[in-house]
Amino acid sequence: MSTKNEQLFAQARKHIPGGVNSPVRAFAGVGGTPIFMHRASGSKIYDTEDNAYIDYVGSWGPMILGHAHPKVIDAVKKAADDGLSFGTPTPFETTVADKICDIVPSVEMIRMTSSGTEATMSAIRLARGFTERDKIVKFEGCYHGHSDSLLVKAGSGMLDIGEPTSKGVPADFAKHTITIPYNDPQAIKECFAKWGSEIACVIVEPIAGNMNMVIPTQEFHDTLRAECTANGAVLIFDEVMTGFRVGLGGAQAHFGIDPDLTCFGKIIGAGLPVGAFGGKKEVMSCIAPLGGVYQAGTLSGNPLAMRAGIAMFEDLTVDGFYAELSAKVDQLIDGIQAAADKHGINLRTNKLGGMFGMFFVKDKATNVPQNFDDVTECDMDVFNTFFHGMLERGIYLAPSAYEAGFMSIKHSDADIEASINAADEIFAEMAKA
Ligand SMILES: Cc1ncc(COP(=O)(O)O)c(C=O)c1O
Repeated sequence: MSTKNEQLFAQARKHIPGGVNSPVRAFAGVGGTPIFMHRASGSKIYDTEDNAYIDYVGSWGPMILGHAHPKVIDAVKKAADDGLSFGTPTPFETTVADKICDIVPSVEMIRMTSSGTEATMSAIRLARGFTERDKIVKFEGCYHGHSDSLLVKAGSGMLDIGEPTSKGVPADFAKHTITIPYNDPQAIKECFAKWGSEIACVIVEPIAGNMNMVIPTQEFHDTLRAECTANGAVLIFDEVMTGFRVGLGGAQAHFGIDPDLTCFGKIIGAGLPVGAFGGKKEVMSCIAPLGGVYQAGTLSGNPLAMRAGIAMFEDLTVDGFYAELSAKVDQLIDGIQAAADKHGINLRTNKLGGMFGMFFVKDKATNVPQNFDDVTECDMDVFNTFFHGMLERGIYLAPSAYEAGFMSIKHSDADIEASINAADEIFAEMAKA
């Protein structure tokens, strides 16, 4: 680790809590010092001494076209020349709204926000306003941003009313959040049997990306849809991570599910701060100024983010884009899996579209994780060794065993080969140890 980087971290810690503006950046899970980056291009990010890293974080998802894509940067420069924000409607917001409604059939109306957190927080308020009920259901291991109602995890047993998992969340808020195990159709049925008439909504990451990457069963989603419909609860798909990432139509297209509301973020601003929530007209019409559920944002639908998004959608909607992206993910993950198998390392993987997950399970007999408990059973020490080994070899993975990985269309065969070779070396060392 370079002295310069250590100095930058020490300097950052003076006035920024923990030296970071979002906790996972601090390397708390993997240990060591976070690397300060100063520029990025294509598949790579560069530290302040200009060392390159092949990047599989992609700013946590948005960089699907690769960093600093010329078309996106050009759109942002032109937008900046025209002024940064007007506090009025702009035609660009309509273009992005039309585009998303066109691509995602369940979304009939959409409202832009400035972050994924605002999108999920507003969708929950909307669901509560629409149903005139208070309780919400979420799943263990799913992250939906940092609003009070959503920073809640299960208490001691299944179907317990949630305990806050962050200080500062009033118990009076947490008591309205029910947390149940992910990917467990029976738990959904029991939850609705107990509280069905009180449940305003269920919010779910339709493919979980915040407990590494967990792909649930079709039965899980079919049960969820059926129970929400039968009980008059709003089904919210949080596609902040999966939207336009696991495929053009997101996870809902993959599972063939028609949610009532969907939250987006990340990709739609091509890396600028943005989020959105949308869905059925009947529900969305309850939002101010049409209806009585208040939601607002000074910078929502910001012209820079919208024009960046418009430029990016042009490429995403080209035939074959996602086939090419997922072929790259296959190449990487199949290669790393083959290297792990060769050295007897117990690696399990998941992948879909431009997203992937890697789990180091404890023994040969253990399958790919299906829920949060399975993920916590994984060998975090092996992950940390793998993470640091890759980092030393110039490959940047998410600094946590609980995060998914992201591929961009700019990752080349050479990038992927270098990544597989690096993994092979690390696995060989692990096997010897
Ligand atoms: C599924 C999901 N929902 C919501 C959020 C919150 O988005 P933001 O960090 O933009 O507030 C995230 C962030 O990682 C996410 O992955």
